[in-house]
Parts: sequence; structure tokens; C-alpha cells
Amino acid sequence: MARLIDSYQRKFRYLRLSITDSCNFRCSYCLPNGNCIDPALEGPLNLDEIINLTTAFAGLGVEKVRITGGEPTLRRDVVDIISAISAVEGIDQVAISTNAYRLAQLAPRLAAAGCKAANISLDSLDAGKFARVTGQTTNQAVLDGIDAALEAGLKVKINAVLMKGINDGELSNFLDYVKTSPVTIRFIELMRTGDNKEYFEKHHVRADVLALDLVEQGWEVMQRGTLSGPAEEYFHPDYHGHLGFIRPYAKNFCDGCNRLRISCRGELKLCLFGDGQESVRHLLQNPTQMEELQLTILQRLSTKKESHSLQDDNFGTTRQLASIGG
Ligand code: GTP
Ligand code: 5AD
Ligand code: SF4
Repeated sequence: MARLIDSYQRKFRYLRLSITDSCNFRCSYCLPNGNCIDPALEGPLNLDEIINLTTAFAGLGVEKVRITGGEPTLRRDVVDIISAISAVEGIDQVAISTNAYRLAQLAPRLAAAGCKAANISLDSLDAGKFARVTGQTTNQAVLDGIDAALEAGLKVKINAVLMKGINDGELSNFLDYVKTSPVTIRFIELMRTGDNKEYFEKHHVRADVLALDLVEQGWEVMQRGTLSGPAEEYFHPDYHGHLGFIRPYAKNFCDGCNRLRISCRGELKLCLFGDGQESVRHLLQNPTQMEELQLTILQRLSTKKESHSLQDDNFGTTRQLASIGG
């Protein structure tokens, strides 16, 4: 079977699969009013549909699957989903992106099911600021979730969306954290989506100044692996953990794009900020549809654009990243 390569010779061996668009947090940049899912919409993909989908992608060369949401741990069958995906031939890395709210309790079961890594949102180490951003009362559940994930042997990365006037002065707090903790903290530049115009204009800030700060303090850039995401990561010999940046507004950001996305209802999304997201759900009903499914994926991939157009204020049809898992 053919492999997933687009017209710009980028190879896609990494699938991000959203398993729900529900979320229990109200992050101010994403779901400030909570989650309002149209009750008329069909439910998320079931386990059989997920297995058929992942098998098709694995047959096209995908090796890594990241489970995203919304908040994926809100699904009662999250552990079964991870077990089933881990068992698909060809898939050798399964990871999860989570707000960590349920992780203290779930981490050992996720690890036993085959999950290797957890990327965890933690926008502030200051409990009050965290509460203001997420609508939660404290960040303690998340901190406990991080500890439980590390204890269970998961590789942990932390995501902090950089927000002017909120957490852009917290570099030193995060530096203290990685001094002893073996995690990677990534600052993500706030991205414009359909729903966050005013918020974006108020809080967007480039990460360049922080990156310069790090270099001045002796941090050095690390090599990026072929299955790695878009973060540029830095190391320092005196620190256990790493720091990194995801800078979607940087020049050539999309040159290294290596991921495809599936929404929780089975829409194939070629770019986080693209327009098209046709559903392949009708092709997930029976393993006999595998070849047609794979041909459909290949045909759609051939239309993937070279880059997003965020710099021209064109963010496609994505209303908020909870709908596609970032
Ligand atoms: P790994 O390398 O597998 O750890 O992946 P990752 O860092 O991409 O995964 P994670 O789910 O932690 O993604 C963090 C955030 O990075 C997402 O929520 C997005 O905000 C951003 N991001 C990830 N991939 C892309 C991408 O392809 N394009 C853009 N613009 N942003 C991305
Ligand atoms: N800009 C940047 N990152 C975002 N996320 C959600 N919305 C945005 C946005 N507008 C990311 C955060 C969070 C993950 C689930 O989605 O990194 O950790
Ligand atoms: Fe890939 Fe689109 Fe993200 Fe660029 S913005 S890296 S093309 S998904």
C-alpha cells in the first residue's frame, strides 16, 4: 500500500485522534463559556470504528497515535481505546493529551494499556492564575496528575499557552519546576480561532523574547525526532527537565508538518487551520471497507496545502481547538 506523503514531500506517520469534544474545563482561550455541543450531532466514534480507522492509517505507515479531546479522559472507555490502538499492528507509540484532571487516578491504567506519554495542559504554576484561566478552583489535581503520570512511567510534557498579562512573566517559575522535574514544558503561542478574536487581540504575545532569555542563560536547542511535534526544545546541563516553544506564527513552521487529524465524529482534517474536514465515518463501519478508506485518505492528502495562513488572519473554519484536539 502507498505511504502518506503529500505534494510537498512531507511524510505523515503521526495521527491525532480526538475521541470526544466534551471538556470539563473552561479555559479562557478555548471554551470560556464551557462546552456547548449541538445535541443534534451524532455521538463520537465507537471502539470498532476507532479500530478500523487506526488499522487503515497503520497500513499507510502511521506509527504514532495521540489521543486528544476535548478532554479524552472523560470517555469511560478511554483505557479500552488505548489498549485497542496499542494492539494494532504497526502502531508503536500511543500518547494522550489531557488536562490531567483525572490523571492521578487513571495514570497506572493508561500506562498498563500501552500509553507511553502524556501531554498535560498547565498554563500557570500559580494556583490563583490557573483558576482564573481554567475555571477550576486550583491546579492541585493537575500537579498530582503529573506526579502520578511520572510514577506510572509515562513521558510527560506540559503545555502552557502564553498569554500577555497573565503568564508571560512566569518563565522563572517554570524554570524552577524543570530544575528538578524530568518533564518538558512548552510555551505555546496563543492562536487565533473563530471564537477568540477579542481574547487573541488582548493576550497574544510572541515567544521570541523568552527563547532569547533561555539562550542567554545557557540553554541549547535539541535535535528534533521524525515523530516529534512542532515544538523547538532546549536543554541545559543543570536542569532535569527541558523547555520548549510552539511558535505557529514563525516562518516555515509548517515545513515540518508530520500529522493528520481525525475529529471525534470521524472527519479527516488535513490542517488545524484548514477549511476542509470531510467525514470518513461511513467507511469505518466494516473492515471490508479498508481499501476504499485508505484510497480516500490518500486522495484527500494530495490536496493538503503547504502552510496555514494564520499570519494573514486566515484561520479556517476551526471555532476552538477543543473541537479538533489542538
Ligand atoms: P508531540 O510531539 O507528540 O508531543 O505532540 P504535540 O506537542 O504536537 O502535542 P500536543 O497535543 O501537546 O500539542 C500541543 C499544542 O501544540 C496543540 O494543542 C496545538 O496548540 C499545538 N500544535 C500541535 N500541533 C500543531 C500543528 O500542527 N499546528 C499548529 N498550528 N499547532 C499545533
Ligand atoms: N492557542 C494555542 N493553543 C491552544 N490550545 C487550545 N486553544 C488554543 C489556542 N487558541 C491548546 C493548549 C491546550 C491544548 C488542549 O490545546 O495547548 O493545552
Ligand atoms: Fe500542519 Fe496545519 Fe499545523 Fe501547519 S498549521 S503544522 S500545516 S496542521
